[in-house]
Amino acid sequence: MPLPNLEAVAEKIRRAPRLTILTGAGVSAASGVPTFRGEQGLWRQFRPEDLANIEAFRRDPVLVWEWYAWRRERTATCQPNVAHEVLARWSQRKGCAVVTQNVDDLHIRAGTRHLTRLHGSLWELRCASAARHGAGRAGSNRASCEHSWRDERVPLPEIPPRCPRCGELARPDIVWFGETLRQEDVKAATAAARCDLFITAGTSALVHPAAGLVHEARRAGAVTVEINPEATPVSSVVDHVLAGPAEEILPALDLLSRS
Ligand SMILES: NC(=O)c1ccc[n+]([C@@H]2O[C@H](COP(=O)([O-])OP(=O)(O)OC[C@H]3O[C@@H](n4cnc5c(N)ncnc54)[C@H](O)[C@@H]3O)[C@@H](O)[C@H]2O)c1
Ligand SMILES: [Zn+2]
Repeated sequence: MPLPNLEAVAEKIRRAPRLTILTGAGVSAASGVPTFRGEQGLWRQFRPEDLANIEAFRRDPVLVWEWYAWRRERTATCQPNVAHEVLARWSQRKGCAVVTQNVDDLHIRAGTRHLTRLHGSLWELRCASAARHGAGRAGSNRASCEHSWRDERVPLPEIPPRCPRCGELARPDIVWFGETLRQEDVKAATAAARCDLFITAGTSALVHPAAGLVHEARRAGAVTVEINPEATPVSSVVDHVLAGPAEEILPALDLLSRS
């Protein structure tokens, strides 16, 4: 691995009072969770963008739920890998925050603290009545049901699942393309971007606003690092590119930063 700057980044990890790591699907690739842009990311002939949106759900909730059922099934047997473990260890330290775009909850299972999940979770559902009646998440329709719950059953007993409170369709509690992120998550992620060292790992840096966090971190004066085997739109922006898999680079950084 041509990584002359590994030692320099490890030194920064050792010294940075505020460290933030933004993760994407690549961090879970070694756990066997397919990324969206990889070969295995495709399900039947569909692109994720064509299924993860409210129009697709309104048109064909069974199709969208079959895709999520497939993803839940694939993810249920996956275990956190060493990249998750290193981040969980770093998260114990004061001033460290982890922000993820992943919906697999592997960071939680690895024991990560101070975690912001920007895009929700495969394992959480919410009543779709507000969405189906055209109201936003906060619900302009005051009568709409706002129930949300966790359901880790694989397989789900019913497709599409229904809201246990009102009987309407349920949807994954996931931020779909074209939807806005939860205000409290954006606030937490923006606060986390104001740090001394910002590491983005395993994300194609295409999905905003998550991809914008590295720019915010730069503006706030942070040293920025990208960990990804492939070049992305932020590769030319960050201070250090560590071109390799997260499950190799993060343990190497962890070891060096402790020596
Ligand atoms: N695990 C999950 O929860 C999961 C899986 C697929 C997609 N998603 C969703 O995809 C959307 C955004 O995409 P994204 O940027 O997170 O993923 P993405 O699929 O767009 O990109 C994955 C990135 O990871 C890189 N990568 C692949 N293997 C890697 C490895 N071993 N180590 C480091 N990097 C590696 C790829 O080069 C690519 O740039 C998010 O909304 C997210 O919710 C989540
Ligand atoms: Zn309901």
